[in-house]
Amino acid sequence: MQNYAAAVQDFVERHATGLTVVFVTGAGVLALRRWLAGGVCRSKVRLDGKTVLITGANTGIGKETALDMAKRGARVILACRDMTRARIAADDIRQRSGNGNVLVKKLDLSSLQSVRDLAKDVQENEERLDILINNAGIMMCPKWKTEDGFEMQLGVNHLGHFLLTNCLLDLMKKSAPSRVVIVSSLAHERGKIHFEDLNLEKDYHREKSYYQSKLANVLFCRELAARVQGTGVTVYSLHPGVIRTELVHHLFPTFALWQRIIAMPIMMMIKSPREGAQTTIYCAVDESLANASGLYYSDCAPKTPAPQALDDAAAKKLWDISMSMVGLA
Ligand SMILES: NC(=O)c1ccc[n+]([C@@H]2O[C@H](COP(=O)([O-])OP(=O)(O)OC[C@H]3O[C@@H](n4cnc5c(N)ncnc54)[C@H](OP(=O)(O)O)[C@@H]3O)[C@@H](O)[C@H]2O)c1
Ligand SMILES: *[C@@H]1O[C@H](CO)[C@@H](O)[C@H](O)[C@H]1NC(C)=O
Repeated sequence: MQNYAAAVQDFVERHATGLTVVFVTGAGVLALRRWLAGGVCRSKVRLDGKTVLITGANTGIGKETALDMAKRGARVILACRDMTRARIAADDIRQRSGNGNVLVKKLDLSSLQSVRDLAKDVQENEERLDILINNAGIMMCPKWKTEDGFEMQLGVNHLGHFLLTNCLLDLMKKSAPSRVVIVSSLAHERGKIHFEDLNLEKDYHREKSYYQSKLANVLFCRELAARVQGTGVTVYSLHPGVIRTELVHHLFPTFALWQRIIAMPIMMMIKSPREGAQTTIYCAVDESLANASGLYYSDCAPKTPAPQALDDAAAKKLWDISMSMVGLA
């Protein structure tokens, strides 16, 4: 015993610097990881008897959000493009939440017809809709077009959700108080709405397109909030954080080997989908936000978005153009 203690003391003395470095680094990494994990939604609100619809809920942030809503007792509709993956996700959510009231419906946001079909299905078959979560998104894909000829990222991230939300508004008003939650991104800060060429036909860049679509999300939130004021429908947009999901799958393959090697430790540090779902969940349920509308959130707290996301004239202009693009005006 005596010898052992002496040996440990000897070891510590001889390796003091090395051990200090290891402990400090370890503590630093843990602290950084905790800090990166961001805010947590602490609300214990139950959603029994309420209905929640989430787009793109078969994976990533959307699936984690759906699981949380199911645990709170809601009827949860996963609106997804890939029905096979959606059914697998629904089974998993039912099992983990113990809530059997989880269903899947087909939604391809790159087709206005598909959006209208889903909205009709919901209007005809659901008694209420308390929370709509516009979560689905596509990031930095090549220059692709939607079925209706829109540039893909604008079409899926903004226009498809714009039409969906407008089609479901009456049901949401009947279910008031109800909430629309729009998953945007910090990337909106680098965005600009290219009114002269919304589909970026002349000068397509995958980043430029993603930034524009995420700025459109924040502007849509503001304009919609103003338009539904007083109806009991409130609207929220948010940045979920940087999260390890499939979102990078169009981007990652374009990286050179050295870029992938550098990206790997960074990937370890970034948020898990569960952590990444917290701000969405917060906007969807937290009691403290009951009277807030039209604002932008990050890490479960309000945040001021970029100046171009506060431009009410641009928000109105984008609304009017979007209305005619999706055939509502
Ligand atoms: N991950 C991040 O670091 C991060 C950062 C900022 C913002 N966000 C935002 O968070 C949201 C969720 O992203 P995520 O990270 O969870 O990505 P993800 O794992 O790639 O999930 C995206 C979801 O959107 C669906 N989707 C894509 N195109 C669709 C379409 N045409 N119709 C219907 N659904 C479609 C996908 O369905 P399929 O399985 O069929 O492809 C998938 O379910 C996005 O709006 C994204 O912009 C993410
Ligand atoms: C929201 O407004 C109502 C009516 O003015 C009020 O009773 C309620 O306390 C407010 N809730 C919050 C969380 O601010």
